[in-house]
Amino acid sequence: MNAVIFALIFLITTGLFSFFLLWLVFMIDSIVRGHDLPTSPRATKALFKIISEHKTAKNFYDLGCAHGTLALRIKRKFPTLCVYAIDNNSVRIFFAKIRTFLFRQNIKFLRKDIFDVNLSNADIVYTYLWYDTMPPLEKKLQRELKQGAIVITNTSNFPTWKPIQKIVTYHKVSKMPDFETLFVYQKT
Ligand SMILES: C[S@@+](CC[C@H](N)C(=O)[O-])C[C@H]1O[C@@H](n2cnc3c(N)ncnc32)[C@H](O)[C@@H]1O
Repeated sequence: MNAVIFALIFLITTGLFSFFLLWLVFMIDSIVRGHDLPTSPRATKALFKIISEHKTAKNFYDLGCAHGTLALRIKRKFPTLCVYAIDNNSVRIFFAKIRTFLFRQNIKFLRKDIFDVNLSNADIVYTYLWYDTMPPLEKKLQRELKQGAIVITNTSNFPTWKPIQKIVTYHKVSKMPDFETLFVYQKT
């Protein structure tokens, strides 16, 4: 009996300790590296609407997926869509993979720099990236995307490419220009 109680206490303590360690890694990464804010539920709803207007789309890319929050929501809402989610941060991809495993979803999480990923099969590309990434990303997308592909950027947008639609999802005053505004682009 004592051995069973000892084993139980050992298992619970080990479990709690592992959970605490994971939480610590998550928090340290978030504080040190930053820029891991997930897309808000409001903006996600607007994104769902855009995706549902493109019924023939097969491949969706979240460029800079952080912990996979958005990618998981997209896959849940559109189970037939093939979702690729890319981030160059190993810690974030690790947590994203744990989440897909727990929620039993088939999402292709890749630890890579978005500039090293071939996007020629993308039908819809989504980004919620820092402003300075946008000029080189615009060049890459213009070079690689197939005709008709849709790009949706959140908050930050491209310097020269003109959006076909602009959806404001946050109506209060913000320090960030165009905070949570979705910019929709189409490759011609
Ligand atoms: C604001 S978060 C995006 C959150 C996610 N798209 C969502 O809505 O849930 C931005 C992410 O982009 C990643 N990132 C920034 N530059 C990148 C690059 N060149 N290659 C891969 N990931 C990048 C960062 O590591 C960060 O996790």
